[in-house]
Amino acid sequence: MDKNNERLVIVGGNRLEGEIVVCTSKNAVLPILAASILNSGNTILHNISPITDVFNMLNILSTLGCSYRWDNNNNLYINCAKAHSWEIPPDLAREIRSSIFMLGSILSRFRAAKVSYPGGCDIGIRPIDLHLKGLRDLNVKIKEEHGFIICDGSNMKGGNIHLDYPSVGATENLMMAAVLTEGITQIRNAAKEPEITDLQNFINAMGGKISGAGTSTITIQGVETLSDCEYWPMSDRIIGGTYLIACAICGGKIRVNNCQSEYLYALIAKLRESGCEFSIMPDYIDIECNSRPMTAQIIETLPYPGFPTDLQAPMTALQTISEGTCMIIENMFETRFKHCPELIKMGANITVRDRMAIVRGVESLQGAEVTAMDLRGGAALVLAGLAAKGTTIVNNISHIDRGYYLIEEQFKKLGGQIERIA
Ligand code: UD1
Repeated sequence: MDKNNERLVIVGGNRLEGEIVVCTSKNAVLPILAASILNSGNTILHNISPITDVFNMLNILSTLGCSYRWDNNNNLYINCAKAHSWEIPPDLAREIRSSIFMLGSILSRFRAAKVSYPGGCDIGIRPIDLHLKGLRDLNVKIKEEHGFIICDGSNMKGGNIHLDYPSVGATENLMMAAVLTEGITQIRNAAKEPEITDLQNFINAMGGKISGAGTSTITIQGVETLSDCEYWPMSDRIIGGTYLIACAICGGKIRVNNCQSEYLYALIAKLRESGCEFSIMPDYIDIECNSRPMTAQIIETLPYPGFPTDLQAPMTALQTISEGTCMIIENMFETRFKHCPELIKMGANITVRDRMAIVRGVESLQGAEVTAMDLRGGAALVLAGLAAKGTTIVNNISHIDRGYYLIEEQFKKLGGQIERIA
């Protein structure tokens, strides 16, 4: 199959029924992979889905001199004993935004790093000024030349960092930079996302000394070395949330296993407003949606524990067929409404102005040929296709494959009619 020409063909209209298991979180695994280079030994990570973003991070680790092996049960064995390079090749860095996390971990280990400006989803300007300002607070000297960021960490020491904004990536990057750096580092106004707590737990499992993740002040006490570790990263709250929204848009009754409600309350509250019913257990969520949903009146994306920007696009898809009008405000990324013109091709009534979208619910969507413009926007089109009348073709699904492993197989388990074709 020619990967570049793959498309999803969806015949919509089926209610969803059955059970599904949520996989390990991409946004937890990517920084954990970056942090694995802090350890000059072995790391074993369990239940790692072979999605494109993970492969891209592993390619970066390989070029730095690390080796890895994946077994048939999705366990990943990484060895960074022979890591020798502190330079990330530009072609790899441009493939993936998370390459920026490597800046902190490479600096922590080698006291030097060179990386080009990172790539990733085209959902906004995505500057890295907060990352660089924080590194300077740790006494890193930074030059920006010909599109490269060149860091000299020979005099690095622990320091006090105040983030102007609680950036997830900057918080994670700076945590990693401080792990093998002498002295105590404090990050204030840190992001509080659960993936940051997972990164703390992983680094501490290797022998790091970090506390406070999940609150707005994180303290890192530098250590000299780390040791071998085995770790099970957290489940993917965004994928779990995508399945819950899928049930709301298609109607039906499903059980989402390996899904922790404590990370999804912002979404669950909105889906309750829509009329969905929940039974919540410690490790799974049952959702049942039997009538046409009501729109949520307002959805505004915010840092955790506010409504996650990564679920904004799937929620927009749900609003298109709900009864009423919804205002959606995207505070995090300025161009994260690229799914809206595609949903309009399917009959949605949406007006977008800057960072706001007004969605007036229609009775139903119709199948159409649409194009995924970014990862979560692509998932939104799949949900719209599953709910629409007739056939939907989703092009450019490499965006979706960055974060959802074989999305069609998951929805088939729930009774969706969806195939991948080349
Ligand atoms: C991470 C997630 C992404 C999610 C986002 C917000 C990963 C791999 N990705 O992205 O899925 O959508 O958090 O929850 O975990 N900003 C600056 N300067 C900086 C850094 C960020 O201005 O130096 C701004 C960004 O442009 C954006 C906002 O801060 O407007 C949030 O970005 P950030 O929290 O850093 O998101 P990412 O870490 O890129």
